[in-house]
Amino acid sequence: MSVFKNKNIILGVCGGIAAYKSAELVRLMIRQGAQVQVVMTQSAKEFMAPLTFQALSGREVRSELFDLNAEAGMGHIELARWADLIVIAPATANTLAKIAHGIADDLLVTLCLATKAPLLVAPAMNQQMWRNESTQMNIELLSRRQGLSLCGPDAGEQACGDTGPGRMAEPDNILKSCGNLLKSCTESHESAHKGLRLKGKQVLITAGPTIEDIDPVRYISNRSSGKMGYAIAQAALDEGAKVILVSGPTALDAPQNAELFLVRSARQMYDTVFQRIDSVDIFIATAAVADYRPIKKIDKKIKKNADKLTIELVKNPDILKDVAALLNKPVSIGFAAETNDIESYALDKLQRKNLDMIAANKVGETEGFEGDNNELHLFWRPRVNKRKSHKKTEISSKKLPYASKKQLAEQLIDEIVLLFVTEAN
Ligand code: C5P
Repeated sequence: MSVFKNKNIILGVCGGIAAYKSAELVRLMIRQGAQVQVVMTQSAKEFMAPLTFQALSGREVRSELFDLNAEAGMGHIELARWADLIVIAPATANTLAKIAHGIADDLLVTLCLATKAPLLVAPAMNQQMWRNESTQMNIELLSRRQGLSLCGPDAGEQACGDTGPGRMAEPDNILKSCGNLLKSCTESHESAHKGLRLKGKQVLITAGPTIEDIDPVRYISNRSSGKMGYAIAQAALDEGAKVILVSGPTALDAPQNAELFLVRSARQMYDTVFQRIDSVDIFIATAAVADYRPIKKIDKKIKKNADKLTIELVKNPDILKDVAALLNKPVSIGFAAETNDIESYALDKLQRKNLDMIAANKVGETEGFEGDNNELHLFWRPRVNKRKSHKKTEISSKKLPYASKKQLAEQLIDEIVLLFVTEAN
């Protein structure tokens, strides 16, 4: 699988003649499976039309730091957190100087200062500007900045007629450097996360939709890609947990090393969970379980002869509620996907289902289900400690801002470890 797959990349474009090559870079990154958000400086727009980048990336180009509309969607801090990698190509002497000295007077440099993601810069300028002592001092400063890598510049003939160093590296080479950076980030992230804070713990996760058959060709189901549950399974594995993934039908590959049980209906999911729940320490229910099923499955395809058809439905068992009602219940975490009144429905579920934590998110036509990104609002109660029963049970909450489901899964596991595992040990 490409190391770019589902990676969020901010491509910063500065004002230089090489900006036209950045269009090709966007195309190459998208082809590799990345999501690319182009951020242009004001002077970049003198060289390239934002519409070109918008058409290639499928995202509106950002360039204003104080753009109320854009900020309402994904603010600049969220955008900085969203990125797995920031690439600046071409990077002008001016932008390099601003990054070196922390002058955050435009969106691009602000993002570079506000991100934890690695930064790759591909300088492009006249050879004399490149050789200038100020530029070289800035490059020297930048090379000491952790997480910043240089790609190029190449030497050769320049647009201004000079010959020398300052040509932007070719898009193919920039792409290769991006790939190397992403790969080493994934590796170091994996080894950093092998903090193994869940070593010795069993985590059971339900994921995906369930399918309730009406007849051999029709069914009732819920919209759910399973992406959030699978990402949580991976994040728990990265922390050393033994992971049992009980999944309804999805198009996803299960994380390697998870014990996978594929099910179809809510009742199959229920039985599979309860066969294994005794040894489970943490139960995370991300599945979009169908609330009702037809009272009986019809053996043959129903013919459409009648003008009206009534299908009688019966309620499915609530897996999460029943797990959380166990005498020796595991840490029980639910999801609340709501179209409205998210907070009040989430709090109601937290109490009613006797959960330790609920992760609420908004869903609708365009939000939540199939996308690779989301945002979560966590609500939790401290776990009642048998030895310290005086513990307060007020509800706490925390927002995990818009990010990839992978990042959200890691943050969620982080919170679970801090709240329910570290404390209990
Ligand atoms: O009640 P509601 O379906 O909104 O609750 C959502 C939470 O409960 C999710 O965590 C979901 O996985 C879980 N659930 C379940 N079994 C059901 C219905 C929901 O485990 N039958």
